[in-house]
Amino acid sequence: MRLLLPCLFALAAGACASEPPPPDSEGPAQTSGRAADAPGLPGHAPERFGFGTDASPERVARWDIDIKPDGEGLPPGSGSVADGRRVYEVSCLQCHGLTGTEGPNDRLVSAGKWEQWPPGRAFGMYWPYATTLFDYTRRAMPQTTPGTLSDDDVYAVVAYVLHLNGLVEADAVLDASSLAAIEMPARARFVPDDRTGGPVVR
Ligand code: HEC
Repeated sequence: MRLLLPCLFALAAGACASEPPPPDSEGPAQTSGRAADAPGLPGHAPERFGFGTDASPERVARWDIDIKPDGEGLPPGSGSVADGRRVYEVSCLQCHGLTGTEGPNDRLVSAGKWEQWPPGRAFGMYWPYATTLFDYTRRAMPQTTPGTLSDDDVYAVVAYVLHLNGLVEADAVLDASSLAAIEMPARARFVPDDRTGGPVVR
């Protein structure tokens, strides 16, 4: 019984009909791309598992949207603070408040200084790179409908949130190069962590 029970469970998963052959028991000559050639899979694994499709360059491009701190990856387009206010009032205000401080969700505008935790460490006084606001907003916001804003709308709402934080003027228009050129106040507060582990880590 002690042996039978695990076998019954395995049978339900279709894996216990007979002793599986050990890895590579079918010999070394196998066609390339065969699932069984993948590391960790047994030799009797099938040619293909029959799900998924090849990742076309177009499909990969839709996932490949990360933006580096220096702005690499920012798309073409631009947006003004004035347009951003309209985007904000339609798509962000209900969760982040009229001035970015009232909630009910996270503050987008820092109060006072970095030292005032937590309100000082909202986006404006805390995030080291303005480009991250573009990446985050485009991939994650509005929280219930992410991905619905155009690139121009994202530039605009990013400009507006920067303006609410006092970091760009009311007439600012941002694009890839002007957004990447913004020096955030907290930039110098982040230092590389060069600790190596063990007793040196405090
Ligand atoms: C339905 C509610 C909702 C809407 C609408 C919404 N957000 Fe958010 N937002 C959230 C929540 C909840 C979080 C916290 C998410 C988390 O911590 O994982 C958040 C977090 C953020 C953050 C990160 C704050 C931080 O310091 O960590 C930013 C920036 C942001 N939102 C910008 C926006 C912008 C810009 C819009 C409009 C385009 C928007 N959000 C619309 C709910 C919303």
